[in-house]
Amino acid sequence: MSIPHFRSADTPLSAQGVNSTTSAKVTLPHLQEKKRNGQPIAALTAYDYATARLVDESGIDLILVGDSLAMVVMGLDSTLAVTVEEMLHHTRAVRRAVRRAIVVADMPYGSYHSTVAEGVSNALRFVKEAGAEAVKIEGGRNRLELVERLVDAEIPVIGHLGLTPQSVHRMGGYAVQGKTLRAIEELMRDSVALEHAGATAVVLEGMPREVAQRITAELSIPTIGIGAGPDCDGQILVFHDLVNLSFSRPAKFVRQFGDAAALFRTAIEGYRNEVASRAYPGEAESYHLPREERLALEESEIEREAEIAGAKLAVIR
Ligand code: KIV
Repeated sequence: MSIPHFRSADTPLSAQGVNSTTSAKVTLPHLQEKKRNGQPIAALTAYDYATARLVDESGIDLILVGDSLAMVVMGLDSTLAVTVEEMLHHTRAVRRAVRRAIVVADMPYGSYHSTVAEGVSNALRFVKEAGAEAVKIEGGRNRLELVERLVDAEIPVIGHLGLTPQSVHRMGGYAVQGKTLRAIEELMRDSVALEHAGATAVVLEGMPREVAQRITAELSIPTIGIGAGPDCDGQILVFHDLVNLSFSRPAKFVRQFGDAAALFRTAIEGYRNEVASRAYPGEAESYHLPREERLALEESEIEREAEIAGAKLAVIR
């Protein structure tokens, strides 16, 4: 059997034509290569077909269907309530849109917290039913058995350390983590342990730059930062934060690269005003009958009016 389309995972990105302006598929080994070459990884969340297409076509390397969708898409006040079914639904929509980027599904709270077996079977659903190429789980040394079992099951795992939103109650809110020597040591140990267990990359969220920089230097797998400073191997942001659609005060680390709220408001208000003034829809935005049918219709209306007039006359007489 010949396998002509298979590329070696060792073939350098550049030799495969993978850069942000081509359509060559990005794979997890490419992220590793980017780290080795000191090339930053650009990652972003997406939750639906339209935005996932835009994100993918813009040359983003990795798209996370984050459980942040609980807050930015569903309007909930934490990520805790979103379900596996809801995450699968959004992951499928993103999968349909994405050709180039790596699609990662976030395992929601409760989907891997009771038993390792349940975690594995939920992760399998993201791969088999929604086309995810990897899953992300929050936690460190408390998740090592799960990471190993997922890797055994051929499911690449991305870890998530620091400000882990699924631990909001334990943390007492969304506060920057890793601010004491002891906490820094815990984070270092967790990150090294995740790498040894087989994690493919680690998201570092909400921690001092100095800590993320040291973890990044220590690990050979890529770190992807959010609120963790510029020294990580890559960065990730929540799509809605990037384009001002979050309806909340942005965190210190958020940079709004566009204002979709202003763009959408202008469009929606324009529509409302033009419907109210009957300026929309116009003649050019209307469908028309073919000439013959229009003439036949007008003729039948004239005949009908004549019939009605005749009937009225008969009543009066
Ligand atoms: O759910 C999410 O969007 C995330 C990112 C913030 C990393 O976990």
